[in-house]
Amino acid sequence: MAEELIISSSTDKKERYRTLIPQLESLVSGEKDIIANLSNITAALKQTMNFFWVGFYIVKEGQLVLGPFQGPVACTRIDLGKGVCGTAWRDRKTIVVPDVEEFPGHIACNSASRSEIVLPLFKNNEVAMVLDVDSDRINDFSEDDALSLAEVVKLTERLL
Ligand code: SME
Repeated sequence: MAEELIISSSTDKKERYRTLIPQLESLVSGEKDIIANLSNITAALKQTMNFFWVGFYIVKEGQLVLGPFQGPVACTRIDLGKGVCGTAWRDRKTIVVPDVEEFPGHIACNSASRSEIVLPLFKNNEVAMVLDVDSDRINDFSEDDALSLAEVVKLTERLL
């Protein structure tokens, strides 16, 4: 496991993701505990990308339940189809919300959150969890974030 994260000093998000992703691979290699790995993935994303909130919600007994995360305290349970996370789960697709106030049913765990991206993670063709990232700035997630976070999702799915 990598002992310390090398963080690109570039202001270019794409470059910071490019430095991060191979390190995520090495961070999780050799550890089989899913909670330990999800925890380190959220910490590395927070440290590198300086997200306001980043975490996993895990499908358990018909709900999304808060998993490892970095950032302010958050809602613990989300129903299918509710909020951005529950919608990404129900629709099995990535959702980018440029302005949370414009998303009907958005769940405001923290009033500082202004934009959001949620990506589903699959196991045996079922959504097993979602990765949720929140920003305190409006319109903070681009196609670059969606593509790079999809790579994070892909490497995380291999651990499930
Ligand atoms: N805003 C999310 C809820 C989770 S928090 O942002 C951490 C939603 O609408 O599903």
